[in-house]
Amino acid sequence: MEEEFSNHSDNQTFEEVLNGYMSRRQLIVGGVAGAALMFMGGSKVSALDAKPTSGAALAKRAKIGFTSIPLQSSAMPTIAPEYEYSVLIPWREKLDGSGKSFDYAGFTADNQALSVGIGHDGVHYFGDNKKGILCINHEYGTTPHIMGKNVPTSLDDVKLSQAAHGVSVVMIENTKTGWKMVKSAKNRRIHGNTPMKFSGPAAKSDLLVNAAGNPVLGTLNNCANGYTPWGTYLTCEENFNGYFGTTDTGWKANTEQARYGVSAAGFGYEWHKFDARFDLSNASYANEINRFGWVVEIDPNNPKSVPVKRTALGRVKHEGATFVEGKDGRAVVYMGDDERFDYVYKFVSKDSWKKMIAAGKSPLDEGTLYAAKYLDNGTGEWLELSPKNPLLAGWKMDYILVNTRLAADAVGATKMDRPEWIAASPKGELYVTLTNNTQRGTTGKAGVNSANPTAVNSSGHIIRWKDADKHVGKTFNWEIFVLAKDVADTGGQMFGSPDGIWVDPDGRIFVQTDGTQPGGNNDQLLVADPVTREFKRLFTGVKGCEVTGVTTTPDRKTMFVNLQHPGDGSAAVSNFPEFFVGASGPVPRDCTIVIKRINGGVIGS
Ligand code: FEO
Ligand code: CA
Ligand code: CA
Repeated sequence: MEEEFSNHSDNQTFEEVLNGYMSRRQLIVGGVAGAALMFMGGSKVSALDAKPTSGAALAKRAKIGFTSIPLQSSAMPTIAPEYEYSVLIPWREKLDGSGKSFDYAGFTADNQALSVGIGHDGVHYFGDNKKGILCINHEYGTTPHIMGKNVPTSLDDVKLSQAAHGVSVVMIENTKTGWKMVKSAKNRRIHGNTPMKFSGPAAKSDLLVNAAGNPVLGTLNNCANGYTPWGTYLTCEENFNGYFGTTDTGWKANTEQARYGVSAAGFGYEWHKFDARFDLSNASYANEINRFGWVVEIDPNNPKSVPVKRTALGRVKHEGATFVEGKDGRAVVYMGDDERFDYVYKFVSKDSWKKMIAAGKSPLDEGTLYAAKYLDNGTGEWLELSPKNPLLAGWKMDYILVNTRLAADAVGATKMDRPEWIAASPKGELYVTLTNNTQRGTTGKAGVNSANPTAVNSSGHIIRWKDADKHVGKTFNWEIFVLAKDVADTGGQMFGSPDGIWVDPDGRIFVQTDGTQPGGNNDQLLVADPVTREFKRLFTGVKGCEVTGVTTTPDRKTMFVNLQHPGDGSAAVSNFPEFFVGASGPVPRDCTIVIKRINGGVIGS
């Protein structure tokens, strides 16, 4: 999803300095040796992959052997000829493992709470090659076809919409007839009215308490995701602001609300007309909006566990939360805040995650949060977001965590072109997708900077970096991996609006798109070579959909990706996947796509 920009801070400093950008770009493209070693503040940062034309690095890279397919504009997906796909857990499939779905006619909030949600997005598979738990985010739950009307006309409508959001936890198995959801006590739905709790430094903050004294309920706009080595799933709350609104014409957003894009109209969901929690002018629920915008941890193996909102990771429009193990075994989580001119973040735990777990503490509750600043010379700094930073002296820690964007403004983080997913490579490099920013460099908006070098950046780009000191340092070494507008295949520009990204253990980079594609074609899944930066197109979605979410079985012979909002909810555009799952309603259904190589090989090979 995309939202109007709300960063009016003036973090510019180096950003308009184009001269530096040009000379640095020559260094990256032409000078392997020059980029190989950089020293910043005494900490050495490893070299990034450059572009050799011969030699060991080129020879050793993993093969991307499939036949790249053309762009498509059809109402059905297409896939490389060496591959096949099937459909799993469409919206409304019952959680009882029967394989049946609730009918579209008469579909209620209670039905929705017992079936797969809509807006399939970030996903992770916890299991072996035959059976395991799939945790899947449901981002966007109010396309009109859920309720059968454009806006709710009752509290029941609102509850149906709320129940369509959140997460599905489902046991799946590779049966004789392919991957299916099966019966399990672990199958459950977490949605907009599920009990939650807060943990971490801001958990007891007054900023998270309402005069109404209502319990903490619900997770919304669950976009990308993460997972931890202790077996939990992380679901990330993105455009939470859009669910709140008011009919009070005298209401005005305060500074904090304005920085998160809160407005009287919201995104037009109109929940506030029937549910006081979402009414901005209801003083009894004044802090309800502060309860959204968090990374939420879920234990998929314990269906009775209460999901936990981890305040140490800050409150932004969280796209995803990518875990890597840092120096001394510390938990490091990289995160993007998807809004025009917003920031990239990382969290570093206080101690080794294993020691913290053994001591009964969450590694995600104690640590340091940073925002990224990209310098013109290809280095960068992680700026601490705590009162220890002189630029935040006197700020209260709970205020910083609830209003993380304001803290990042104050320390001078770099305004980015909508940071979406972040992926870690086996070499310890990170990749972040900057999906697009058509307002970059336009009147009254921030101009280009070295990390976001395209004015009116309608196609987006991908940055690659390496952190100092095994992810726990305060510096990094970065480069632009690709500008999407410059990536071509025989048909011209290959893709735009990169969003989902994952790097497999062999280094292949999987990129998914969400937005305008060349020629107005469908969103897609591509695979890129980290050394040559060549892309191949593996899969294309259907008209009107977004391709998002990526996870595999341990052997990587099965991949799960998602089609979000096929046909944009209109059967006239695409009724996918009714052909696969049987006619049970007049609308298309968000679903998971299971991808396999016909010969059973590793996906991407
Ligand atoms: Fe939910 Fe930024 O995509
Ligand atoms: Ca997106
Ligand atoms: Ca996304």
